[in-house]
Amino acid sequence: MTSSTGHPAPSRRPSVDWPTAGLSFGGDYSPEQWPWETVLEDMELMREAGVNLVTLGVFSWIVHEPRDGTFDFSWLDRVLDLLHEHGIGVDLATPTAAVPMWLHRLHPEILPQDEHGHPLAPGGRLGWCPSSPVFRHFALRIVDRLAAHVAGHPAVRMWHVSNELGGGNARCHCPVSNDRFRAWIAAKYESVDALNTAWGMAFWGNTYSSLEEVTTPSGVTAHNPGQLLDYERFSSDELLEHYRSERATILRHTPRLPVTTNFMVGLGPDVVDYPRWADEMDIVTNDHYTYGPDPRRHQELAFSGDRMRGMSGGGPWMLMEHAAGAASWHPINQPKRPGEMIRHAMAHLARGSNSVMFFQWRASRSGTEQFHSAMLPHAGRDSRIFRDISTLGAHLVALEEVRETVVVDAQVAILHDDEAGWALKSGLKPVNRPSYADTARALHDALFRRAVTADVVPPWSTLTDYRLVVVPGLFLVSDANAAAVRAYVEAGGTVLVTWFSGIVDEVNTVRTGGFPGAFRELLGVSSEEFFPLTSDERVTLDNGWLFTRWSELLRDPDPDAGVEVLASAVDGWVAGSPAITRRTVGAGTAWYLSGDLEDDSLGALVDRILEETGVERVARVSDGVEAVRRASSSASYLFLVNHTDEAAWTDATGVDLLTGAEHEGRVVLAPGGVAVLRETPAQPTPNPPLLESS
Ligand code: GLA
Repeated sequence: MTSSTGHPAPSRRPSVDWPTAGLSFGGDYSPEQWPWETVLEDMELMREAGVNLVTLGVFSWIVHEPRDGTFDFSWLDRVLDLLHEHGIGVDLATPTAAVPMWLHRLHPEILPQDEHGHPLAPGGRLGWCPSSPVFRHFALRIVDRLAAHVAGHPAVRMWHVSNELGGGNARCHCPVSNDRFRAWIAAKYESVDALNTAWGMAFWGNTYSSLEEVTTPSGVTAHNPGQLLDYERFSSDELLEHYRSERATILRHTPRLPVTTNFMVGLGPDVVDYPRWADEMDIVTNDHYTYGPDPRRHQELAFSGDRMRGMSGGGPWMLMEHAAGAASWHPINQPKRPGEMIRHAMAHLARGSNSVMFFQWRASRSGTEQFHSAMLPHAGRDSRIFRDISTLGAHLVALEEVRETVVVDAQVAILHDDEAGWALKSGLKPVNRPSYADTARALHDALFRRAVTADVVPPWSTLTDYRLVVVPGLFLVSDANAAAVRAYVEAGGTVLVTWFSGIVDEVNTVRTGGFPGAFRELLGVSSEEFFPLTSDERVTLDNGWLFTRWSELLRDPDPDAGVEVLASAVDGWVAGSPAITRRTVGAGTAWYLSGDLEDDSLGALVDRILEETGVERVARVSDGVEAVRRASSSASYLFLVNHTDEAAWTDATGVDLLTGAEHEGRVVLAPGGVAVLRETPAQPTPNPPLLESS
């Protein structure tokens, strides 16, 4: 993966053509909602804004196939030709997110059913059961006709399978899904005894006599954790199978165009298992929407970007959708603050996206999302949003050379796994409604505030080149992945394992003998009992740090195990218990954090570990400045985003590609300002990340 100069190669999928010559810029485009004169105006305004790619046809099934078996692509042809004439490429969607009403009328059995066996109502979108062979037949028929029709059209640059698969239809309990689930279970466990053991069906006397008795989890009381976890896996697999069947149909007609489906990656766990889907995407793409009331929404955005990079093998990924202004599904939908849309766009690019795309180009007047923001708002061209969009379009042209670079400097890996998150929410826990990624986010935030780049990667990733691996609340871990963490430490790495990690195995069964089960021996510690804290409780440690939310009763470590107790609890029910430990293992170090440190204490712990491991900051920055570096073998680019309302600074030298300004030694950023510096000289990357999945 690394070139002779030590920079990572641009992508692990070198055979795929990027859909645009430069960075991609545009959004979802739904001309079927508008008269032709508006479409013609769109062409002019897109050109004015610098749009070079649109996602077309996401909800256009009814246009392509107005009646069962009657196909009409004349509208599509006209739109494709117009876009092509205006130099705009197309990310063409298969329309399977939008079931035509005639299909619902002819085949009501395709509707997903909830856990009470009630079919969902037709309308909206994604109103289909992922396992339905009837739906699959109609879906593949339209995909086949569409792909055959557009093959060779020069505007079509990539394929966008359906839309946000699983966003509404991920879990179905209809009879077909039940049959498929039974078959999936039979293939996995082979015998009823193996299944009874794996799920622990002796509890509550739920033991099966036959695999024929298995159902999707839809009982009247709380469900079995093993069953729930396998149902999540099954549901993800069914949707992946749907994706694969659409992709195979497309590739028969256009074998060279990249195929993807748009993910919804945030903190996780996700609706389907994206890290395990990622290898099936020619370009990994994401839809990302920030939550306005979250004061650290830019850091949540960074977390999602760092996860996307983890799924793209370190290479470029695509931001397929985000919002130009307000969303419309929150209780109150506030617009982005002045400059915030451009800050968000720059932050996505900084973390490895080679595109800035939006939902959507023109704000709809009617329909469910009539108040969702768009690149061209209801107010029209003479508006703050459209002016900012045009500025952004010009920025992307100025940044064109960045397309050949990837993010460098990640010396820290944060392990993150959808299965761990699903396991955590499956069944009853010491704290119910726990949020899987809270600890991961808190640690990522501490690194973010210190301008340290971290890759958020699945636990089966190659860890060798990281100086620090963080294992935050990784509730489920397989023996193999736990062994890989141990091998990494023995070979000289440093790991920080936090509370509620390694608790269950792959079938959601508790690892007994002391927590954190899978990591107990590596850490040389063993905890007996969890003591979650109410929102007004705290546990003080003997160094003055504070635990919130969670504490544990740890046994005194075995004196021969070489465990250093860095802090112990001085109050609360766990008073006297070791709280934070550190152990040398082979050539490396293993830390255990047994409770939820409040922010300042967590920052102090992170400072200490960064110093000890020699992890370097990307740049020296003032508070609130996000700094991320991208590089090729010959050039390096420092992305700087000032998330504060004050002027801020960074130490760096180079030319700002956005303004042409030259900076020597210090860059001063305006309040809320951004800069992208081509650095002179190009900065070497101290420790190139190696993200290949094994
Ligand atoms: C998702 C969908 C879009 C639109 C946006 C905005 O990302 O893919 O079709 O609904 O959300 O809500």
